[in-house]
Amino acid sequence: MLGAGFVGKDGPMPDLARDLAAVVGETNVLVEPDLRAPFETDWTGRFHGPALMVVRPGATDEVAEVVRRAADEGVPIVVQGGNTGLVGGGVPAPGVAPLLLSTVRLTRLDQVDTAAGQLTVGAGVTLGRLQEAADRAGWTFPVDLAARDSATVGGMVATNAGGLKVVRYGPMRSQVLGVEAVLANGTVISRLGGLMKDNTGYDLSQLLVGSEGTLGIVTAVRIRLAPSQPEKVVALLGLPATADCVEVAAAMRRRVEGLEAAELFFQDGLDLVVRHAGLPAPMSREWPAYLLVECAGAADPSEGLFELLADLDLPEAATAVATDPAGRQRLWAYRERHTEAIASLGVPHKLDVSVPLDALADFERRVHGVVSGAAPAATLVLFGHIGDGNLHVNVVGPPDDNETVDDSVLRLVADMGGSISAEHGVGRAKARWLSLSRTESELAVMRAVKTALDPSGRFNPGVLLGDW
Ligand code: FAD
Ligand code: MLT
Ligand code: ZN
Repeated sequence: MLGAGFVGKDGPMPDLARDLAAVVGETNVLVEPDLRAPFETDWTGRFHGPALMVVRPGATDEVAEVVRRAADEGVPIVVQGGNTGLVGGGVPAPGVAPLLLSTVRLTRLDQVDTAAGQLTVGAGVTLGRLQEAADRAGWTFPVDLAARDSATVGGMVATNAGGLKVVRYGPMRSQVLGVEAVLANGTVISRLGGLMKDNTGYDLSQLLVGSEGTLGIVTAVRIRLAPSQPEKVVALLGLPATADCVEVAAAMRRRVEGLEAAELFFQDGLDLVVRHAGLPAPMSREWPAYLLVECAGAADPSEGLFELLADLDLPEAATAVATDPAGRQRLWAYRERHTEAIASLGVPHKLDVSVPLDALADFERRVHGVVSGAAPAATLVLFGHIGDGNLHVNVVGPPDDNETVDDSVLRLVADMGGSISAEHGVGRAKARWLSLSRTESELAVMRAVKTALDPSGRFNPGVLLGDW
């Protein structure tokens, strides 16, 4: 017997919804427009499109059955985790009306294997819950980002998320020992055994890392944990120029043990955060550029950090330091709250790029001219992960569908030997420019892989490879 949820405002629901209700339960097939709405627009508000329905399977075999039944009907599938992605990959494109498969009910969280420092976790588990589970077991999960309470493990695998600690631990890819996933024909591959050594051919798990939902639906992941580093110090440095931040960060990478993060922001972004979040200014005067670093270890890493700062002898610099959790969090807020502060100005064009480290200061200087040339009235806010050569170029002002500024910035990045996507992925936002970062031979291989795994192009159409 079908409930009221199956009679949509636009009339009776498609047969597929009834079939899928038998698989995942009636309350997990959302067909009403107001129930679908939160899944149909991305975090930035720039990307949106209607879904035929939202389906929330609760187990891997349910995902496989949903995929098979959608395939029988020729219905494409868009996969969504926490919907914190910033390149429009997890929401439908206008005019496609796919089935939106939400992973939020895939919340398996196994016991930590304390001997191996590993655990198996469902794709829908949030980063925050994974970090808590690791902490409780005396380990740490070292990938960290400000969207930790919503971003899911599956989404982070699919985008190969980077975040705040790549400089020490690498991105999500480095923490993935194996993946379980449902392929487009409904078969399941499962590599959750946790073997540290396993040279038996193509690494299918790593192929799915960074595939942005175009090759398979990740349902569970075998995660590698890291030893916990309980003693931490955070320092915020005000410096005269971006080049100084690059130089100090490089010296720290070479000489300070336990450097976990090296982040960059500027006075305009700081002013915005202070205003938006109601925080006090961190320093008694303004600085052209700010470098935030965190070091962590089993023993207090402050001394090594202070020694280096003394050696560097930076007469024109100011430093704020914190070792206690509340103080560290206070300093981190100036960096972490940039994303929400920028979003408060309007719908941002978010251009996450990387350039060679020795070109970063020059890129920062040139991008101002490029943005003011392409969009004279726009607001530009830059910040990023300086340790990884990764800058976030945020432009607020141009209409959502005007790509002039995106085009100009991404071409500058390519001209300077950089990547059009450092850590957020390509999604729908940058598919048009993929050839700026990938050769035609590479694109041909990528298309061949896509064709082999998803010949009808039903998973995340338009994402990453465009209309390949
Ligand atoms: P979604 O947004 O739901 O999806 C993202 C992509 O992954 C889509 O293409 C989707 O189809 C695909 N996908 C999702 N789940 C699966 C699955 N189970 N199987 C296959 N494909 C799937 N990113 C960084 O890299 N570094 C940062 O520092 C960072 N900070 C952020 C801070 C804020 C405040 C916000 C809002 C975002 C930030 N992000 C950052 C971006 C975002 O959090 C990451 O991209 C994250 O990995 C997305 O996870 P999600 O579960 O929200 O995925
Ligand atoms: C960050 O580093 O905070 C994120 O990648 C989010 C963003 O780019 O806004
Ligand atoms: Zn980032």
